[in-house]
Amino acid sequence: MRRLRRAGWSRALVAETRLSPADLIWPLFVREGTDLAEPIETMPGVFRHSVDRLPALAKEAEALGIPAIALFPYTPADRRSEDGKEALNPDNLVCRALQAIRDSGANVGLLSDVALDPYTSHGHDGLIDETGHVLNDATVEVLVKQALNQARAGADIVAPSDMMDGRISAIRAALESFGFHDTQIMAYAAKYASGFYGPFRDAVGAGGYLKGDKKGYQMDPANAREALREVALDIAEGADSVMVKPGLPYLDIVQRVAERFDVPVFAYCVSGEYAMVEAAVAAGMMERDKVVLEILMAFRRAGASGILSYHAPHAARLLNA
Ligand code: PBG
Repeated sequence: MRRLRRAGWSRALVAETRLSPADLIWPLFVREGTDLAEPIETMPGVFRHSVDRLPALAKEAEALGIPAIALFPYTPADRRSEDGKEALNPDNLVCRALQAIRDSGANVGLLSDVALDPYTSHGHDGLIDETGHVLNDATVEVLVKQALNQARAGADIVAPSDMMDGRISAIRAALESFGFHDTQIMAYAAKYASGFYGPFRDAVGAGGYLKGDKKGYQMDPANAREALREVALDIAEGADSVMVKPGLPYLDIVQRVAERFDVPVFAYCVSGEYAMVEAAVAAGMMERDKVVLEILMAFRRAGASGILSYHAPHAARLLNA
């Protein structure tokens, strides 16, 4: 076995999996203001950028060979409400960011998240009743309007991350009837109720608001076969691609989905995974460059077409070097 491993040229020749910047999607946080890059305490090295800074970041992604970026808003407290109606404002942060990047001519795919948690005063992804239960069908109606709002602003891919039932078919039908025939849907199909989203909730300012947990709509980490049902439903409802989330602790799910289905499968290496690496690096316990590329390669080996990663620009720089 070691003959094949001895020289670099030979290792390159026999590598079973390739990783390139083209496999990455870079998630970015957006905030109000001008010329601001506000550090996020729980995600060292990640910032909330004001809208005016985004075209340059989109062009950076393009120059690095990263095909797409994903936008997440940090909504000011006074724009949050019980019904999350800011999600439908054509002039909200995400829409302004989408438009600014579109207008800049940056040649990258723009992905926007469909879910109400950046906009609700209770931090849930949907509308709640008096008991705090997240309502399915009423939420889907709002998500459809949110997705249309984002498509109008220039989103290439809408990515429902809410885990309501039936939202993919409802969004697909609405996109078709309003002429958005080419807007892709990347379904967060197997999204688990996870402790690894902690830093993200801090980044979008939702953590302080969240009442209870999301176990009534996000998946139980104990379940794998259920993930296959979720994926099958989202594909049948019209998803163009599906996602598994979080990433590393769910590589078995990535692999099973990739083996069973013929649509592109994405994995989201989430905020808590990013924070774990950065904390270990800061403590001198691991080397960032090595572990970042190793982690991303692991997703590719498991069968992921692409990976959403906060390390995307760093990884792309390493891969391009
Ligand atoms: C919102 C959403 C979440 C993430 C992406 N979209 C958080 C949540 O569901 O609570 C998490 C991303 C990350 O942790 O990096 N629906």
